Amino acid sequence: MTRTPSTTPSLALPQVSEALSARLTAGLERVERLIVDRARNDSDFITEANLHLARAGGKRFRPVLTMLASELGEGIDDRVVAAAAGVELTHLASLYHDDVMDEADLRRGAPSANARYDNSTAILVGDLLFGTASDIIADLGPEAVKIQARTFIRLCSGQIRDDRPCPEGQDTREYYRGVLADKTGVLVATAARYGAMYGGCSPDVVAAATEYGERLGVAFQLADDLIDIASESGETGKTPGTDLREGKRTLPVLNALASTDPADAELQELLRSDLRDQDRLDRALELLRDHSAMAAAREETLAVGRGAVEALAPLPDGDAKTALIALMDGVVHRVG
Ligand code: IPE
Ligand code: IPE
Ligand code: MG
Ligand code: MG
Ligand code: MG
Repeated sequence: MTRTPSTTPSLALPQVSEALSARLTAGLERVERLIVDRARNDSDFITEANLHLARAGGKRFRPVLTMLASELGEGIDDRVVAAAAGVELTHLASLYHDDVMDEADLRRGAPSANARYDNSTAILVGDLLFGTASDIIADLGPEAVKIQARTFIRLCSGQIRDDRPCPEGQDTREYYRGVLADKTGVLVATAARYGAMYGGCSPDVVAAATEYGERLGVAFQLADDLIDIASESGETGKTPGTDLREGKRTLPVLNALASTDPADAELQELLRSDLRDQDRLDRALELLRDHSAMAAAREETLAVGRGAVEALAPLPDGDAKTALIALMDGVVHRVG
């Protein structure tokens, strides 16, 4: 899959036919143009801040998914392009806010908006981009707006809960899975849902695509949480260890904390401590990287990915379905 020069080709789909690949490339160019057009503002500063992260890079995973899902029906048209741009802008806005929450200083290989400007600017530009996404989605009619609103509510609810400890008495893994589904799964589900809807698919196909997207989104976030521990900054454009530094209990951490092996005492002590200290963080990362807790979390990621593909079972075979299966493979094995 070809992308704009600034995006990372880490979710390439080699199995996709040449014809479909060409349609996706042309569609993505239209999505990019729409985003840039609608993000322009009378204030030069606002235009620059709006487009800061869009220009820095990004995989464009969600708009590609919208376009691929539309190919389950009649394929990419103006409405599919608008939906794809609305979804990517919603995602982009959530990144501006997420980097404030996570005190992150690097995003898409560039300074995050909070680092480049300040927290207030990052929050307000994120809000403006949410507004821009809603403006584009509103052109698709009230059903699309309703879906967007419900998506946004779940996304924010997931982000709020992600920033808080698991409530007393609740199973920590269950809490974590719920957070993942809401903060990430729902927008990926909506990306697929819009694509199938505006591709003119039947309600059954829309439902299958939505379920696939929700599960794919959870697998995507599980992989992201592995990457935070295992990858280098050059691969992700983000700072490794951010989750640990912020005290986030992602699946590998929950697995390591559940271990009863006395050999894990040092790691468990580190994981329960303040990891803003760089030496302690480096040691925790070193111990976690080769730990069976990571292998178990990888297994769970693959299982959720397989579940996503199972949701596609009712759909007839074809180019688009093959590409969606390949997309899942790219998601669970990605390193950036
Ligand atoms: C990052 O999403 C936020 C998560 C939900 C993990 P992506 O990994 O899709 O980020 P970009 O768009 O490629 O930068
Ligand atoms: C972010 O999760 C999810 C959303 C933006 C909704 P992360 O905090 O793990 O995303 P990254 O790793 O900063 O991209
Ligand atoms: Mg983050
Ligand atoms: Mg976060
Ligand atoms: Mg992350």
